[in-house]
Amino acid sequence: MSGPTLRRVLTDAGQPSDLIFLLEDIASACRAVAYEVRNGPLKGNLGLAGSENVQGEDQKPLDIIANDIFVATCTNSPRLAALVSEEIEEVVWLKEPKEGDYLLFFDPLDGSSNLDTNLSVGTIFSIMKVAEDGDRTVLKPGREQVVAGYALYGPATMLVLAAGQGVQGFTLHQGSGIFRLTQPRMTIPEETSEFAINASRHRHWDAPIKRYYDEVTAGRDGPRGRDFNMRWVASMVAEMHRILMRGGVFLYPLDDRNRDKGGRLRLLYEVAPMAMIVEAAGGGATTGTERILDLVPTEPHQRIATVLGSKSEVDHIAALHR
Ligand code: AHG
Ligand code: MN
Ligand code: MN
Ligand code: MN
Repeated sequence: MSGPTLRRVLTDAGQPSDLIFLLEDIASACRAVAYEVRNGPLKGNLGLAGSENVQGEDQKPLDIIANDIFVATCTNSPRLAALVSEEIEEVVWLKEPKEGDYLLFFDPLDGSSNLDTNLSVGTIFSIMKVAEDGDRTVLKPGREQVVAGYALYGPATMLVLAAGQGVQGFTLHQGSGIFRLTQPRMTIPEETSEFAINASRHRHWDAPIKRYYDEVTAGRDGPRGRDFNMRWVASMVAEMHRILMRGGVFLYPLDDRNRDKGGRLRLLYEVAPMAMIVEAAGGGATTGTERILDLVPTEPHQRIATVLGSKSEVDHIAALHR
């Protein structure tokens, strides 16, 4: 087995021990979620749980199990002041916040509509810091993230981290349970001919997104002068991992059906962490009109229009909005 362990990489990078402990707890939680996802059909954990989360989505048993694993595992960390989860309505305060304490944001299971069909799902997380003693705000812009990451429960379980040293990918060794560095420097190719969007929503889109779609589906005779390929897994983690490995652009725009909610994807625990990872890998992250990492959230479960991926393509989509 090759590649340094997660702890070795974090220690060599000079990360503070409190942050290493928290990241190791997160890695343990992801390992436990991977185990539950893989055993889901055997334990009767597919189908619906019969409950809704705060955003009115039907919860799956594994949405709840993954959330419970994260809460039970990560609350051991003495410097963790608060949690924000997709599956928990209120912010969970664990202690009186002190300057330098950590805030953890997570989507315990992303792409959970793929569970019943045994396709790839993931976990997304983000860590920020309390600014000063007693400061109880979690509504901070994404540029203040200390670490952003995701776990992908695909053919292999991977942990991908942006922790101030570019983007690093670790693979879980089945059996020993050790995460080892397998992708030391993940970068997104600047140019791409591949896009990902739920095109069934075409009739609800605004003009700039319709125009982009028309351009990239027009092929060699169109304004882009080449053929584009399309992919849609309906699992943001899987989509973004593909983009980190070979380039591409991912769009979940504002449309007539999600405008009242502000978009589809949630800013604090889905879009901002992915935006940090994408920028650290050399890509771009915009709503179409604003840089995602500069947005100051107005509420913990806020949704936002999302364009992420290869820099030149993201810039082109932003230009279509001007
Ligand atoms: P979640 O499973 O955490 O609620 O998030 C699902 C998100 C995201 O992963 C994916 O990109 C998108 O929803 C899929 O949307 P469609 O159902 O429109 O395909
Ligand atoms: Mn959900
Ligand atoms: Mn999600
Ligand atoms: Mn989720």
